Amino acid sequence: MSSSSSSTVHAFLGDELLTQETRDLISSLPKEKGWLGSEMYQFQGYWHTQALLQGLLTCQKRFEAKDSDIILVTSPKSGTTWLKALVFSLVNRHKFPVPSSGNHPLLFTNPHLLLPFLEGVYYKTPEFDFTGLPIPRLMNTHIAHRSLPESVKSSSCKIVYCCRNPKDMFVSFWHFGKTLAREETTDAEFPIEKAVEAFCKGKSMSGPLWDHILEYWYASREDPNKVFFVTYEELKKQPGVVLGRIAEFLGCGFTDEEIVQGKVEEIVNLCSFESLSNLEVNRQGKLPNGTESKAFFRKGETGGWRDTLSESLAAEIDRTIEEKFHGSGLKFSS
Ligand code: A3P
Repeated sequence: MSSSSSSTVHAFLGDELLTQETRDLISSLPKEKGWLGSEMYQFQGYWHTQALLQGLLTCQKRFEAKDSDIILVTSPKSGTTWLKALVFSLVNRHKFPVPSSGNHPLLFTNPHLLLPFLEGVYYKTPEFDFTGLPIPRLMNTHIAHRSLPESVKSSSCKIVYCCRNPKDMFVSFWHFGKTLAREETTDAEFPIEKAVEAFCKGKSMSGPLWDHILEYWYASREDPNKVFFVTYEELKKQPGVVLGRIAEFLGCGFTDEEIVQGKVEEIVNLCSFESLSNLEVNRQGKLPNGTESKAFFRKGETGGWRDTLSESLAAEIDRTIEEKFHGSGLKFSS
């Protein structure tokens, strides 16, 4: 493993902070070779790296939701970075007006550093004090609905869930792995056919993807005031409209005056792929765990899977998705 990739991969797959409790639990869980050749463990029906599993366990034990909290939920590579930027800018639009005189936090900070990633923070710093965050607290997670800490469900906190066309999500993840660890992801080490096969069996990080999506889909239908459900494709098509809906959902809708002043478009433009990916901080910067910021900005398109997936691999994913989403009423555009 090269030294440049090892620190980054380590951030996602590390085990040096594992407690004895986690090691004991892990030893009893179903195990699979997973992302970048690491072990993944199945807990409460979902596949996790050991680091993020420990973060999840600590989160379940320690996190106390407040009614005013806003929790952004995604599967990895489904638009997390974008959603973080949008909701941060939306909720803080009076504190940090857009456009600003060049001092908006997004201009200098990767969106991942503006909102804590619950299970990531709990893995690195189990004692982290979330009570110190500004209110409303903004946080993100990949935790499945069934595994959320009890207080998230029982409080009035709000959940914004974003998912993505599974083929694009898979392809995005595939390239993300290659960016982080070129040597571990050569075609010989990590053939795409095997990755698609595992994905279609539900064996991907935070997978099965369909269960992850459907749990939040049904939760949003059951209680639309609690869970806002949106797809990456809808956001791409009508970012201003969706942002307006998210604002209403969060109780901070845009006023008529703001709409006339173009405040919605200003946030959409600031958070666009073109804008964020061209900022120095995201072109050159690194997250504290060593991941290069630019790894989170690849193409930012819908339907880009066509460049990576052969017809037969695309058909394999399509068959799985059709079967798993059958009868749910949920359709993905591509
Ligand atoms: P691609 O790999 O298809 O380009 P996540 O943020 O969940 O890790 O997802 C990363 C995906 O979102 C990548 O997709 C990335 O390019 C895309 N992305 C990042 N920022 C974006 C933005 N502001 N607008 C649209 N897509 C964005």
